[in-house]
Amino acid sequence: MEEFYRDVVEGLNKKNKTLPSKYFYDTKGSQLFDQICELEEYYITRTEIKLLSKISEELAKIIDNKHLIEYGSGSSKKIRILLDSNSKLKSYIPVDISENYLLDVCEKLEEEYPLLKINKQCADFTKKINLKGIHKNDNKVVFFPGSTIGNFTEKEIIIFIHNLIETLDGNGEIIVGFDLFKNKNIIEPAYNDKKGITRDFNLNILKRINNELGANFVIDNFKHKAVFIKNKSRLEMHLISKIEQNVKVKDYTFNFKKNESIHTENSYKYKEKVLTKLFSDYGFTEGKAWKDENNLFAIKHFIYQ
Ligand SMILES: C[S@@+](CC[C@H](N)C(=O)[O-])C[C@H]1O[C@@H](n2cnc3c(N)ncnc32)[C@H](O)[C@@H]1O
Repeated sequence: MEEFYRDVVEGLNKKNKTLPSKYFYDTKGSQLFDQICELEEYYITRTEIKLLSKISEELAKIIDNKHLIEYGSGSSKKIRILLDSNSKLKSYIPVDISENYLLDVCEKLEEEYPLLKINKQCADFTKKINLKGIHKNDNKVVFFPGSTIGNFTEKEIIIFIHNLIETLDGNGEIIVGFDLFKNKNIIEPAYNDKKGITRDFNLNILKRINNELGANFVIDNFKHKAVFIKNKSRLEMHLISKIEQNVKVKDYTFNFKKNESIHTENSYKYKEKVLTKLFSDYGFTEGKAWKDENNLFAIKHFIYQ
């Protein structure tokens, strides 16, 4: 059974139905995410870009003369801030699961930066990755922006860190951008935008299951829900069944009760010390941390050797 089909069946068979958020990202999903980044309510992208621009000289010193690997590179917009800083890279390796989108983005990047060696790689960063063009003792830095790390539960983050260590093959660094714990009045509107782009992004996972697995989800029969659960420090996205219904995915039929949910994404909002402890517990040394002036977002550097 192919991985996508297996994960969908496994998620929808659970008592509390789930779908892994990595499946949001086909080309349409990646385009919708780019639109989310432009939304007035979505403070995350704007804040991280401003912070990256402010600290770009410091980051340039960290990445200089190294291989720069970007996890979940998407539009590769943020990396341009680092590429335009005062550093010379050995290579840039954008890693993303959304293959066609990655190819399109890299085509433009190759035109814009003809001297840069770009080794694009379609891969799943929740697993160990055999990085293209990198040898055991090469100096390498993983750039993991966008608060994508916030999509992992604590259990998933531990697996992620283990696989990251394997990918780094004994030595390397990571610069990670993460959204900070804050009032729900700032968080919830970011995932409930007036234009309904986040709703379309959430529903796109069902369209993708229809397109790629021949399922028969009636998209209008589901509605978007995004709510901040303070005691879990996470924003949860759900798709709620508006009616009692059956949905067929290849050989399986799933029953949905009225108001039953499919949990599609977590976005954890971290306190800096919580994230630091997770990396420190697995052998990373703390580097510098930076925050924006409103304490919305943080970027942190860790070293593994
Ligand atoms: C929240 S978006 C962030 C995009 C971009 N880095 C930014 O900061 O705006 C997450 C990105 O990670 C990619 N992605 C999600 N899960 C992934 C996985 N398991 N492996 C590789 N890429 C993944 C998506 O395709 C998407 O481009």
